[in-house]
Amino acid sequence: MKQVVLTGIKPTGAPHIGNYFGVIKRAIEMSQNTEYDRFYFIADYHALNSLKNADDMKKYYKELACTWLACGLDPEKVLFYRQSQIPETFELCWILMNVTPKGLMDRAHAYKAVVQENETAGKDPDDGVNMGLYNYPILMAADILLFNTKFVPVGKDQKQHVEMARDIAKYFNKKYGYTLVVPNEMIEEKTATIVGLDGRKMSKSYGNQLPLFADEVALKKLISGIKTDSSLPTEPKSTDCTLFEYIKLFGTEEKQAEMAKRFAEGISWADAKKELFEIANAYLKPMRDRYNRYMENFEDVELLLQKGEKQAREIARETIARVRKAIGVDEFK
Ligand code: TRP
Repeated sequence: MKQVVLTGIKPTGAPHIGNYFGVIKRAIEMSQNTEYDRFYFIADYHALNSLKNADDMKKYYKELACTWLACGLDPEKVLFYRQSQIPETFELCWILMNVTPKGLMDRAHAYKAVVQENETAGKDPDDGVNMGLYNYPILMAADILLFNTKFVPVGKDQKQHVEMARDIAKYFNKKYGYTLVVPNEMIEEKTATIVGLDGRKMSKSYGNQLPLFADEVALKKLISGIKTDSSLPTEPKSTDCTLFEYIKLFGTEEKQAEMAKRFAEGISWADAKKELFEIANAYLKPMRDRYNRYMENFEDVELLLQKGEKQAREIARETIARVRKAIGVDEFK
């Protein structure tokens, strides 16, 4: 049996280059590796926590599905599916809740951050916290454990969640005997944090993101808004700046070396931005074109997902059968 690599992304808004270089790109690279069985999915029930209307849910799900494919996910090689089409996930989630100590959830970074914010603001610590937020890591553990996952490629921010999934698998196995594969996170330290247009970490919550599929006009405009220092056009420039970070992301090694030289010699910020636009656009255009094609032919994408979902459910049912047996509950009759 091959080891399983699994990862998911929640559809909470237009994907940005932080998502791409942080997670998607490497997940796609890993997906070429036929040593593993690969499961990539859309974590729409995780998004429920922040999306509270049906139109957003539909829009972001569609955009994310097309993003995965545009970025190179090959549905012949990867089981591609929506979490919400795998009901076994939610059954496993409930079962796992019963072996998960509350204290483990109390330690989750995302929950703790909200509590801390509330405390600072003098509010009730649990103000605005619903059980979806609180149990989020258990649902994620269910996603992972349902498919016998060995490796989970994720960004640094998800490290704790995968550790919790590992803990939860161990709690279960300890109580009921070895039933669930114990997973490990796979984190790329090098590109795990992508700098945003304003120099802080790229994040939707800062509004400093470079959307992956912005059209050329928007891309140019966003690049021209990158913060730079006030050095004169002919002065040498330091490569230790946001603009050069992007040159490193999008440019080949030769291009990076050439641009480093021009920075040292003195290039105007306007010219540097023009160059960056050319480099970034050349990199993104083929993906953007594919993305637009998938968006226009979404029925095809839905068929691909349905095929993946059918196969994924077969595996999910096997795991649930094993888990039910372990806990002493009859299989479906
Ligand atoms: N929580 C992840 C995120 O916000 C998405 C996710 C849900 C996930 N379930 C998963 C990632 C299982 C990896 C494995 O990015």
